[in-house]
Amino acid sequence: MTKPIWIKHAAQLVTLQHELAGPRIKEAMSHLAIIEDGSVWLEDGIIQAVGTTKELEETYTARSDEAEIVDATGHLVTPGLVDPHTHVAFGGSREREFEMRLEGATYMDIMNAGGGIHATTRMTRTATEDELVRQTTKRLDSFLAHGVTTVEGKSGYGLDLETELKQLRVMKRLQAEHPMDIVPTFMGAHAVPTEYKGREEEYVDLIINEMLPVVAKENLAKFNDVFCEVGVFTPEQSERILEAGKLHGLVPKIHADEIEPYQGAELAAKVGAVSAEHLLKASDEGIQAMAEQGVIACLLPATALYLRETAARGRVMIDAGVPVAISTDCNPGSSPTTSMPLVMNLACISMRLTPAESLCAATYNAACAIQMEDKVGSLEVGKQADIVLWSVQNYQELQYLFGVNHVQSVWKKGVKVVG
Ligand code: NIG
Ligand code: FE
Repeated sequence: MTKPIWIKHAAQLVTLQHELAGPRIKEAMSHLAIIEDGSVWLEDGIIQAVGTTKELEETYTARSDEAEIVDATGHLVTPGLVDPHTHVAFGGSREREFEMRLEGATYMDIMNAGGGIHATTRMTRTATEDELVRQTTKRLDSFLAHGVTTVEGKSGYGLDLETELKQLRVMKRLQAEHPMDIVPTFMGAHAVPTEYKGREEEYVDLIINEMLPVVAKENLAKFNDVFCEVGVFTPEQSERILEAGKLHGLVPKIHADEIEPYQGAELAAKVGAVSAEHLLKASDEGIQAMAEQGVIACLLPATALYLRETAARGRVMIDAGVPVAISTDCNPGSSPTTSMPLVMNLACISMRLTPAESLCAATYNAACAIQMEDKVGSLEVGKQADIVLWSVQNYQELQYLFGVNHVQSVWKKGVKVVG
């Protein structure tokens, strides 16, 4: 039994409590429900009480000897950050491509020449399961160090049944062995593997007829994601794959309108995707359709920066009523970072989210994008005790002092994992 933790006197305790359920839109994204001189009692891995220090003292002073007391005077306390879009379980690294892009090659040039996703696929295919666990553990540790306590993780560097399953099993193993919560997504449709070049439809059939049934039967994924992009999967192929996944109980997600406009946002609304990712080139009609269907826009400003592209129109999307989440997109090509605080800063700088919206997008709305909002993403009684203590005084300061890691301590399910 671990000791209860009693965090007291937080300058700002950002709870993100709200009477409305479901992803937050418009003004609700700015509703952080901050408690000044805030306090929270964590026990059995769960948040047992949230309120002002004075309120909690009425109940818990009698038990204060049992608990580890954390004095948060002058500090910001938030829910653990949630990263709803990562490709974290991959083999190897691609630093040479970074140089190639600076020399003028584009992301798609590199991929079409057999690099990019194909390069990581080769390295992931040859890595043993233990080796992938070892490499992924390092990245998960780095996520925790940056205040992230839940991540989504995609397969998609196998592009054959055996390796796709290996990636998903690595994530399942880490869900059991590592403090991080990892929510798995099947992404066999991340690229057409080089051995299927010219036979794209056969690969789509392989995903539908052979991969999806096994992934679902072994209960290895919750979501099914597709890279709908010019030269990768067409909207028609993407729709077939996502509809097939639905028949197996897998919820659709879609990498949409990243490099070229391709009606990806419209498709996300049509298939009832929980979220659409990237959306750099999403059309006005697509944004409107997403708002009408309540599809969450999962925006990845670090990827846009890294590829030297203009970021998605986050401000426009929020004003149009689309619920917005943000994410690192942690992957070895277009965004090799684990820093959600950096992503929060970039959401403000390059997409004109306010600091409050950015924090909501990295916590509660991010949890909604992976259907985990009943457990994580806000500080509410009964939810998991996933909490970050930051070495800043308020959430505005967290967003303003950029490029620095302000994490002081992190608790995952009530156990201190950082600091
Ligand atoms: O979300 N866009 C496609 N997939 C990833 C990049 C994967 C890679 O380059 O390895 C993304 O950016
Ligand atoms: Fe991605």
